[in-house]
Amino acid sequence: MGGVKYCLPLLLLSLLIAECASRPLYTLPSLAKSGTKKPLQTSRPFNVAHRGANGEFPEETAPSYMRAIEEGADFIESDILSTKDGVLICHHDVNLDDTTDVADHKEFADRKRTYEVQGMNMTGFFTVDFTLEELKTLGAKQRYPFRDQQYNGKFPIITLDEYIAIALDATRVVGIYPEIKNPVFINQQVKWADDWLKQPIFIQSFAATSLVYISNMTDSPKVFLIDDVTILTEDTNKTYAEITSDKYLDYIKPYVVGIGPWKDTIVPVDNNRLTTPTDLVARAHSRNLQVHPYTYRNENQFLHSGFHQDAYLEYDYWINKIGVDGLFTDFTGSLHNFQELTSPLPKLQ
Ligand SMILES: *[C@@H]1O[C@H](CO)[C@@H](O)[C@H](O)[C@H]1NC(C)=O
Ligand SMILES: *[C@@H]1O[C@H](CO)[C@@H](O)[C@H](O)[C@H]1NC(C)=O
Ligand SMILES: *[C@@H]1O[C@H](CO)[C@@H](O)[C@H](O)[C@H]1NC(C)=O
Repeated sequence: MGGVKYCLPLLLLSLLIAECASRPLYTLPSLAKSGTKKPLQTSRPFNVAHRGANGEFPEETAPSYMRAIEEGADFIESDILSTKDGVLICHHDVNLDDTTDVADHKEFADRKRTYEVQGMNMTGFFTVDFTLEELKTLGAKQRYPFRDQQYNGKFPIITLDEYIAIALDATRVVGIYPEIKNPVFINQQVKWADDWLKQPIFIQSFAATSLVYISNMTDSPKVFLIDDVTILTEDTNKTYAEITSDKYLDYIKPYVVGIGPWKDTIVPVDNNRLTTPTDLVARAHSRNLQVHPYTYRNENQFLHSGFHQDAYLEYDYWINKIGVDGLFTDFTGSLHNFQELTSPLPKLQ
């Protein structure tokens, strides 16, 4: 397996100069199974719909994923948690407070609990204290107050199976990008070799131990997520410097096809301005590892000041200057439009 060279066209709108980058091959064992559907594109960085089109719909709901597919997502992304009765669901937070209307459900008032989560006591309503049937009575809601609130309470939480079915039902090949957390329980629940391989997949985790643990259960490509520089890994208590060292990248390389770092660690930010990029992308690419940073968000409160409130300038910088291989975005539509404008896919006859 060797690096593939390609160039992205110059974007006239910006002053940035496109660079030819040596990129890892897109290794996706399940690509061969695309059948008669339009296959996954592999000529440009992947558009990964972070929790679906969550800039528009409540995150990780069916409409959020369906909208992302409509808007051109290559992969739809989700987090996996368990219900009280052991059903795997798509939900990011371990509690339900910020993303559902659970507080309005008087019948569940007695479910409030305090658990220690990542070293802190957290009080609220937790997915593990509700059966699937109970969870299905809740309505999902938009996390951010400055995003569209009109769908709040209208759509339920979905199961992992329902999420997989949404991707399989698409009229073109759409991949899934599930995040696994708990190293043992969830990994034992998932039928790794079953439905998952009917579509392209990246399995992602911040826990290297989870990725190593499942390495003997599935050949599906795996991506090692990397958190902010101040955060120690939850499973092995390692520092950012340790897990991005040459030694560690060499260690993890046999288990993964890429890394997924928080973008502000690749290009550190000072006073809301980007500073000099680190060499992490180059060191990953030299090991044939893809780089899929997170999270791209169009709103001014998330865009760094150098991008002048223009999400296209941010995409241009990361794709054409930094040379990433995939982007987790809350706004799949804007990334798709940017890529169509600057690097259109060949038309099928
Ligand atoms: C959480 O609360 C329990 C019970 O009050 C206490 O014993 C424990 O030390 C707390 N943990 C943290 C991390 O504050
Ligand atoms: C995977 O299986 C091989 C062969 O049985 C074994 O040597 C290796 O230790 C296993 N790896 C893990 C991570 O369990
Ligand atoms: C994790 O490592 C830090 C130092 O990097 C140390 O201070 C801390 O006690 C460790 N925590 C655990 C749970 O081992």
